[in-house]
Amino acid sequence: MLQGSGLTRHIAGRTTWKPRLKKGRVATPTAILFFVILITLLYISSVRLNASKLSADKYTNSTIIVSAKRRTSTKKIIEFPLNCSIGNQTQACPTNYPTTFIPDDLDPSSTPVCPGYFRWIHDDLLPWKATGITREMVEKAKRTAHFRLVVVDGKAYIEKYKKSIQTRDVFTIWGILQLLRRYPGRIPDLELMFDCNDLPVIRSRDYRGPNTTGPPPLFRYCGDRWTRDIVFPDWSFWGWAEINIRPWESLLKDLKEGNNRIKWMEREPYAYWKGNPAVHETRRDLLKCNLSDTQDWNARLYVQDWILESKQGYKKSDLASQCTHRYKIYIEGYAWSVSEKYILACDSVTLIVNPRFYDFFTRGLQPVHHYWPIRDDDKCRSIKFAVDWGNNHKRKAQAIGKASSDFIQEELKMDYVYDYMFHMLNGYAKLLKFEPKIPEGAVELCSETMACSATGLEKKFMMESLVKGPSVTSPCTMPPPFEPRGLANLYRRNVNIIKQVVKWENNYWESKINSTKSKPSSF
Ligand SMILES: *[C@@H]1O[C@H](CO)[C@@H](O)[C@H](O)[C@H]1NC(C)=O
Ligand SMILES: *[C@@H]1O[C@H](CO)[C@@H](O)[C@H](O)[C@H]1NC(C)=O
Ligand SMILES: *[C@@H]1O[C@H](CO)[C@@H](O)[C@H](O)[C@H]1NC(C)=O
Ligand SMILES: *[C@@H]1O[C@H](CO)[C@@H](O)[C@H](O)[C@H]1NC(C)=O
Ligand SMILES: *[C@@H]1O[C@H](CO)[C@@H](O)[C@H](O)[C@H]1NC(C)=O
Ligand SMILES: *[C@@H]1O[C@H](CO)[C@@H](O)[C@H](O)[C@H]1NC(C)=O
Repeated sequence: MLQGSGLTRHIAGRTTWKPRLKKGRVATPTAILFFVILITLLYISSVRLNASKLSADKYTNSTIIVSAKRRTSTKKIIEFPLNCSIGNQTQACPTNYPTTFIPDDLDPSSTPVCPGYFRWIHDDLLPWKATGITREMVEKAKRTAHFRLVVVDGKAYIEKYKKSIQTRDVFTIWGILQLLRRYPGRIPDLELMFDCNDLPVIRSRDYRGPNTTGPPPLFRYCGDRWTRDIVFPDWSFWGWAEINIRPWESLLKDLKEGNNRIKWMEREPYAYWKGNPAVHETRRDLLKCNLSDTQDWNARLYVQDWILESKQGYKKSDLASQCTHRYKIYIEGYAWSVSEKYILACDSVTLIVNPRFYDFFTRGLQPVHHYWPIRDDDKCRSIKFAVDWGNNHKRKAQAIGKASSDFIQEELKMDYVYDYMFHMLNGYAKLLKFEPKIPEGAVELCSETMACSATGLEKKFMMESLVKGPSVTSPCTMPPPFEPRGLANLYRRNVNIIKQVVKWENNYWESKINSTKSKPSSF
């Protein structure tokens, strides 16, 4: 699993970053036991299922109605553990999982509105709003896709085109299967193409003008200003087995506890970064800002030694205990970096070196409120100023650190990651102008077909991130699209804030230069 050179080459070459994490912090047996007892009690006290609905006849059409009064604590939780004993050779999918599920909170006023970054779903689907999405457009997106996902009658089928880097495709598909378990019967029929590589490829300028068709709809993990790829949560939310990053839900709890270990005031008053500088020139440039005999830009920078880390099984590293500095630097590598959410979760001020890419949630971040912007063309002086500013405005700096970790803990919790996928896929499916078809020879995929035969960390992460049963609450309510000028205003506002920071920065350096100049020249 963590075996040597192939992995290291992948990481050195393609993927961004590298954390230090401790091997497998799992819940203690006591906690698991308690959880099992709790669930069992809930189960016994609440389930009133018709036994015939659990029978394994081929096309059961079970509808389960569950009461989920938010104001009372009597949530009825129904769980469907994996059944790895269906069939003998080729693992089959179970037939007893409900195909529809009606939570009791269908009244929209009782479901919370989704976080603000969900509004970008409207914008990301805008190119097809007038025309819809035709089969030809989807087929065009196949050119770079790693797989085609087909959902028909709530079941998932995959047509695989090529192998992705590491287990990106595996955990992305796993995540979609968990979404289907979470909201059975509520993901409409669809066909989509997914590209697991880093860089967006659908250039908007190729699809301008009156006579062009809409761009091919292609799902991937990140986008930038010049492209129209549709952004979707990356695999790491269900785990990154190759470098031992646990599924997001459990990791998020660890990160919260980790934050209480060292309070902001007691953290090192410097900007910390650890990563792989080989992936991009801008990262090599960043290393020039490291502490040396002749300079101190308030940065403490380290190279991730992947070979060493993988040999030691990542034992030394633990994401939750990396929040040791008041400032943490985020810098893109080859493209966006999975590390961003772990850095933002730290309670430290995140110093974001002017990014080019966005992923599905980062467009919800506001400069100076959630993070401190760092110039890309003058990194060292920019970092030095940011850290000096923060150490001179401790209360404000702490508030920025807190705002970003609150954002991550509350608005990026796993429930919302699923709800984002839910709304994105529903919005996408509404645009389809053709009837999705199960590809010839395609096999149905379900959690059993993936997890039962998995081994090692992959198996562990799948079991850890398994959605246990249908959600008793509905997805959050989509916020409306941006007003016609809304997006432009938001963009301009952020640009102005960043310009303001640059102005402060220039003043700071000017006055420093003035004061050093005035000393020798004053006599
Ligand atoms: C299954 O559910 C669908 C939609 O709810 C319904 O139209 C259909 O009649 C059901 N089939 C059976 C066999 O119950
Ligand atoms: C698993 O599936 C088999 C075959 O369909 C069935 O006999 C068995 O009862 C199932 N086990 C559980 C726990 O559902
Ligand atoms: C399952 O096992 C039985 C007996 O061991 C065998 O006859 C049958 O062919 C197997 N089925 C599959 C799908 O391999
Ligand atoms: C637009 O497309 C039509 C049909 O394909 C073609 O006849 C026409 O020349 C095109 N116009 C331009 C300006 O490209
Ligand atoms: C940066 O400086 C620190 C302290 O001198 C040192 O331990 C570290 O190895 C340096 N990092 C790099 C990438 O040279
Ligand atoms: C620095 O000196 C220049 C020229 O003397 C002056 O115009 C400028 O306002 C000074 N800047 C600051 C921040 O003091």
